[in-house]
Amino acid sequence: MSATGPGRTPFIAGNWKMNKTVSEAEEFIAALLPRVSSVQGVDVAVCPPYLDLQAMVDSTRGSRVQVYAQNMHHAAEGAFTGEVSAPMLTELGVHGVILGHSERRELFGETDRALQLKVPAALAAGLVPILCVGETEEEREAGDTERKLRHQVQEGLAKVDSGRLGDVVIAYEPIWAIGSGRVATPEQAQEALGFIRALVADRSREQAQRTRVLYGGSVKAENAGELLALPDVDGALVGGASLDPAGFAAIVDAATPA
Ligand code: 13P
Repeated sequence: MSATGPGRTPFIAGNWKMNKTVSEAEEFIAALLPRVSSVQGVDVAVCPPYLDLQAMVDSTRGSRVQVYAQNMHHAAEGAFTGEVSAPMLTELGVHGVILGHSERRELFGETDRALQLKVPAALAAGLVPILCVGETEEEREAGDTERKLRHQVQEGLAKVDSGRLGDVVIAYEPIWAIGSGRVATPEQAQEALGFIRALVADRSREQAQRTRVLYGGSVKAENAGELLALPDVDGALVGGASLDPAGFAAIVDAATPA
């Protein structure tokens, strides 16, 4: 059961990372849709690799499952070899985009400066951005978690109009919990998510009540209920456990309001 705040619809998004060919994606979605067809009051998204997007938009049409991309360039077009823009995504019918995932930051040189441009560019194009933030294990041990989160949230939202802050989804993904099986404790998750909401409130109290803040990092069907019941947790960004239709559907069930 989810304890999402007033007016905030719980949101479960599956980040497939670099997994699933088009045929594997089709197989997954055929198995997922019947499992989530009767779910109410939860927003559900899959975030496949670019090449699967068209197939997933077509296969989910008329269902409650939305399709998000995993990254985009801030410019609408131009000489940026290998990149994909917001208008390319919206024309396909993609609903939103993950931005600033720690794997993009750590492995592909994504910077806070680039995210300053990407987040408002996504909003302007009509995409829902999921801005990812989170500390390393060393930063947590050094007592630097809040400093890191403050920096990432303030930078990522710096060029977003105050009146649109509530349209940005923020995912707190402690890097030490990603793919490690080491999920944050409920206390750690609530503390970080409450802090993130307070950072948004520093810009706009009203918008902070609309902002959906997700937890990500080793979320599975077995631990989702406890995390989703926390007051500031509005949903989950799920990696490994989102690759299996039954496991992902069970997490969606855990987010369903009573
Ligand atoms: P895992 O759920 O595999 O830990 O991955 C979390 C994540 O990075 C989602 O974006």
